[in-house]
Amino acid sequence: MTEERILSPENADDNERIIEKSLRPQFLAQYIGQDKVKNELNIYIQAAKQREEALDHVLLYGPPGLGKTTMAMVVANEMQVAIRTTSGPAIEKPGDLVAILNELQPGDVLFIDEIHRLPRVAEEMLYSAMEDFYVDIMVGTGPTAHPVHFPLPPFTLVGATTRAGMLSAPLRDRFGIVSHMEYYEEKDLQEIVLRSADIFNTEIVEEGALEIARRSRGTPRIANRLLKRVRDFAQVQSNGIINRKIADQALQMLQVDQAGLDYVDQKLIRTMIELYGGGPVGLSTLSVNISEETETVEDMYEPYLIQKGFLKRTPRGRIATQLAYEHFGYPYSS
Ligand code: ADE
Repeated sequence: MTEERILSPENADDNERIIEKSLRPQFLAQYIGQDKVKNELNIYIQAAKQREEALDHVLLYGPPGLGKTTMAMVVANEMQVAIRTTSGPAIEKPGDLVAILNELQPGDVLFIDEIHRLPRVAEEMLYSAMEDFYVDIMVGTGPTAHPVHFPLPPFTLVGATTRAGMLSAPLRDRFGIVSHMEYYEEKDLQEIVLRSADIFNTEIVEEGALEIARRSRGTPRIANRLLKRVRDFAQVQSNGIINRKIADQALQMLQVDQAGLDYVDQKLIRTMIELYGGGPVGLSTLSVNISEETETVEDMYEPYLIQKGFLKRTPRGRIATQLAYEHFGYPYSS
C-alpha cells in the first residue's frame, strides 16, 4: 500500500517539475531563506570570479524539497557558467559518468543529485576528476586492457544528498564547501508562497500565505504544492481569493493538521503510541507498520517530527514524546 502523499517532498512528477522550474529563483538575491548557505556561497563565488577560477566543489545536504537543485542552478548562474545535471542512480556504469565529464567546458557546474547513490566505480572515478581534473579510463579487455589518461577542464561538482553521513569519507573530503540546508522559517516560506501566488496570478492575503507556510513542514516544495490545492479550493468554494479561513478549510480537507502533519505522520505517531506504548520501537518495525522504506522514514518523516519535538531517537529505538501524546489527545504517563 503506497498511498499518494500530498506532503511528500519527494517524487515531484513531471508536471510539478515544470511548475517548479518556473518558480525557481535564478540568482542568490531572489533566493528566499537559507541565509547562512547563501552568505557563504556568495563570498566563495565572488572570490572565485575575481580569480577567474572554477568555484570549489560544493556539497549540499539536507532533507528533500529544500531547494538543493535550485541552489545548484543559482550557483551556475552566478558563476555565469553552464550546468549539467545528473543523479547517482542515473549513472549505472563508469562510461555514463565519462560521457558527462567529456562535455564539460572550463568552469562549468556538474550537479549530481542523490550523490550517495553513485555506484562505487563511478564514485572512485570522481576522486581524481575532482582533485586533479583527470580520469583514467580502461580501454580494451583481457591482456590488451590498458588505462588511458583523460584530462578534464577545471569544473565545479555540486553534489546533493539527504544526509552527509551517507557519503563515504574519501568523497566527502573532496568537497571544499559543505553546506547544510535547513528547514525554512515560517516567514521565509510565507514569502515563497506569496511569490509563487504572484507567478500563478492567484490572489492571496498575507495570513492565507502564512497558514500555508505554517503547515508545509518547512519545505518550499510542499508549500508550493499545497498552494495549488488551496487555490483550487478557493476557486470552487469561494471567490478565488486565498485567506486564512479558506486555507485552513482546504488544508483540513487535505488532512494536513494544525502542526502540518499529514496522515502518514499521524499514522506513524499513532502507531507508536497505540501499538508500542510510545516506544522505544525500532526503525524497521515502525517502517513496516506504516508501509514505508526505512530510508524514507529516516530521511523524510523523522527529521521534521524530531525538529517539532514529537519524536526522539534513542539508542534503543524511537520514542513518542509527551508533546506527541498531547497533540493527538492521548493521556500521557511517564
Ligand atoms: N521557490 C521555491 N523555493 C524558493 C526559494 N528558496 N526562494 C524563492 N523562491 C522559491
